[in-house]
Amino acid sequence: MPDAYTTRKLSARYPTDLGAWTALARHYKEVMRQKTLSELFARDKKRAQRFQLAAGDLTLDYAKNHINAATHKLLVRLAKEADVPGAVRAMFAGEHINKTEDRPVLHVALRAKISDTVALETPGVRDIWEVLVRMEEFVERVQTGAVVGATGKRLTNIVNIGIGGSDLGPVMVSRALRTYWRDDMRFDSVSNVDGTQLADLQEELDPESTLFVICSKTFTTLETMTNAKAARAWIVERLGERAVVSHFVAASTNHSAMNEFGIHSDYRFGFWDWVGGRYSIWSAVGLSVALVTGMDIFRRLLAGARVMDLHFQQAPLHANMPVTLALLGIWYNNFFGAETQAILPYDNRLERFPAYLQQLHMESNGKSVRLDGKPVKCSTGVVIWGEAGNNAQHSFYQLLHQGTRLIPIDFLLPVQSSGARQAQQDLAIANCLAQSEALMDGQDAPSDEPYRSYKGNNPSNTIVFPALTPETLGQLIALYEHKVFVEGVIWGIDSFDQWGVELGKKVASSLTAAVSGEGQYQGGNASSASLLEIVSRER
Ligand code: F6P
Repeated sequence: MPDAYTTRKLSARYPTDLGAWTALARHYKEVMRQKTLSELFARDKKRAQRFQLAAGDLTLDYAKNHINAATHKLLVRLAKEADVPGAVRAMFAGEHINKTEDRPVLHVALRAKISDTVALETPGVRDIWEVLVRMEEFVERVQTGAVVGATGKRLTNIVNIGIGGSDLGPVMVSRALRTYWRDDMRFDSVSNVDGTQLADLQEELDPESTLFVICSKTFTTLETMTNAKAARAWIVERLGERAVVSHFVAASTNHSAMNEFGIHSDYRFGFWDWVGGRYSIWSAVGLSVALVTGMDIFRRLLAGARVMDLHFQQAPLHANMPVTLALLGIWYNNFFGAETQAILPYDNRLERFPAYLQQLHMESNGKSVRLDGKPVKCSTGVVIWGEAGNNAQHSFYQLLHQGTRLIPIDFLLPVQSSGARQAQQDLAIANCLAQSEALMDGQDAPSDEPYRSYKGNNPSNTIVFPALTPETLGQLIALYEHKVFVEGVIWGIDSFDQWGVELGKKVASSLTAAVSGEGQYQGGNASSASLLEIVSRER
């Protein structure tokens, strides 16, 4: 599709030759490098209000960052010069912005209303609402017992089998929405190839009430297919071949592979190639979440994401939350040289959120080739990591407070408890606020006790929201999806492919026979040959 964004020409040194980029480099060197966060607060009494913005139910406090009004202006100029607004329009219009795979990128259509007219002419888009209705009917029938297992028992154990986006999405969201689970439903997941997750579940679950949800965009992924076959063998062994049809449901774009596996046509939920794996929780990949919580909750999740989509499309760049997070990310990465970013949620139900964001950021923006095939001219995606609340404090905060690295942080802070223990959530809130304050202010120590000194000056964002609900969770996920997109646009890379994972898969398949002893190692890597010798001795 010959459109402005996808056909844009990148100059030889893009983005480092953009006027805003060079101005930011100068501004960093001459002004901001020397300034501490405490100085910035002392100089600007309105700073806390100035650097705060709202989108949906989320409030972003970004005052504790190494920026002043001039930095903010230059960052917004950078977004303009990189044509972020054009890129946003291109995504929502269904342009083929995933250039290396020649596809549109339309996870935003999955949570749109039909009246939003998001890329309605793209094949598949008009089918979205039909699939949602089919999911709704299926969920309802499972929950009311109209659909049961082969022996007539209700299906109350939902086991998601998938990996990457087909696992992290369902797992993260179902854990985050634990409060919303139907009383008698249980959620588990199987992802890793080693087989231990399924082995453990087989000890605990009654096969008669277990429904496996196989999630795989391609339905060819080694880990998922290995686990799905193992689960199938377990059902056959315990309930007989004819039970398979009642205990497996699938979400995929690959209909012939679902056929081959024996997935009943009523138990199949499709999606489309314009939904990337790490952006797929909004599609039928969310089926296991809907099965444990109810379709009403899943629809509320979609509605939350749509709120952020509308904000992303409509808010001006200077007051746009995903754009602001992206620009701050670029500021630390490309000008301060930060290598990592920590995500620290203060609600244990968000414990898999850092892992979810890790795939979202690192698979999307861990690239070193630009859209035009030329090498990138600046560093791209940082390492994302994190852990929930006080568990993190008692683990790695030592390094945040007294280590030698610059680590920008996003604190995520729900005000109300999602576990009906408000007094304990109040403690979590106090701890979160205390940490961001202490990390910024630091503390001097007596000269004979230098190890007691806290350097302070560590930047952080705090995203506050009333409570962890399907709506706020949807907003949070969409916020980061768009943040990652904007960063990719500015770096000139394709945030929607993942070629980097292919080589390892290929090498693994060439090693499989050598590991099991059924074949010889054909490769020429001396280290692998020596490791294989050890493996064959110990096997
Ligand atoms: O790791 C590569 C990847 O393609 C991810 O992008 C994706 O989420 C995961 O594998 C699973 O893919 P599929 O849903 O096709 O099984």
